[in-house]
Amino acid sequence: MKEPVPPPGREKDDSLEDLDLPLLQAVALQVSVLAIALFTRLLDVLVLCVRPWLLRPYLGIWLAEWMHSPYRPRRTFEVTRVLRESGQGFRELIYGETPLFTAVRLFRRAGVGRGSRVVDVGAGRGRVLLAARWLGAEARGVELLVDHVASVAGQLRPAGITLTVGDATREELGDASHVFSNWTALGPETKARLVERFRACRPGTRFIVVTRPIEGRGFVTLSTHRMLFTWGFETVWVQEYRPEPV
Ligand SMILES: C[S@@+](CC[C@H](N)C(=O)[O-])C[C@H]1O[C@@H](n2cnc3c(N)ncnc32)[C@H](O)[C@@H]1O
Repeated sequence: MKEPVPPPGREKDDSLEDLDLPLLQAVALQVSVLAIALFTRLLDVLVLCVRPWLLRPYLGIWLAEWMHSPYRPRRTFEVTRVLRESGQGFRELIYGETPLFTAVRLFRRAGVGRGSRVVDVGAGRGRVLLAARWLGAEARGVELLVDHVASVAGQLRPAGITLTVGDATREELGDASHVFSNWTALGPETKARLVERFRACRPGTRFIVVTRPIEGRGFVTLSTHRMLFTWGFETVWVQEYRPEPV
């Protein structure tokens, strides 16, 4: 199929508007996204009934969405500045979330529990971090966009979750026992820079990565899983960092 030619002056790779779909297809997509959203939120709430103290921050995230939807990133001056600093494109901000029940299952498989320190690199609104707390682990997230963080950080703090604004490719990860990366939308260059950060982790650190595994020496796959996300099913890799002795 021939690639569509972008209008002059606009980089093809850098705009969400290029995702325009025929009307019927767009309606079908919206309906399926809505159905998944309802289904996953219902399951999340059921899972949270076992840890009722986490219900409040979860519903807080949900309510914050009315004020600021992370699913429609706007190309504001601030977003443009942040992207220029991190060397990323606008398409890398395409948003999707990991349902809490998906994250609980994944973290269990990865051995998360009391005494674990989970870091989500590209944490969005911290939904995944609630799953880490559900399992009794410490939970910390770093997110590039200030709007995502500002809308929820106050709700998450009382649950022991730290969500900060920052560039994950420059984040200090040395204290993590488990690193989660939903890096589905990230470009190859950003992924490569993240993997360099991962190499600064302690041997034995476990990585839970969505859509594609960490490629390169020293990252050993322990298991793969097919899991539900807000946009559909994806494969997830649980990997362990085992650097070769020099
Ligand atoms: C697909 S969302 C995943 C959100 C969350 N981790 C989850 O799975 O529910 C990816 C997030 O990564 C953020 N992001 C992209 N590049 C980043 C970077 N260099 N540093 C930190 N966050 C980044 C985006 O703004 C977006 O909120």
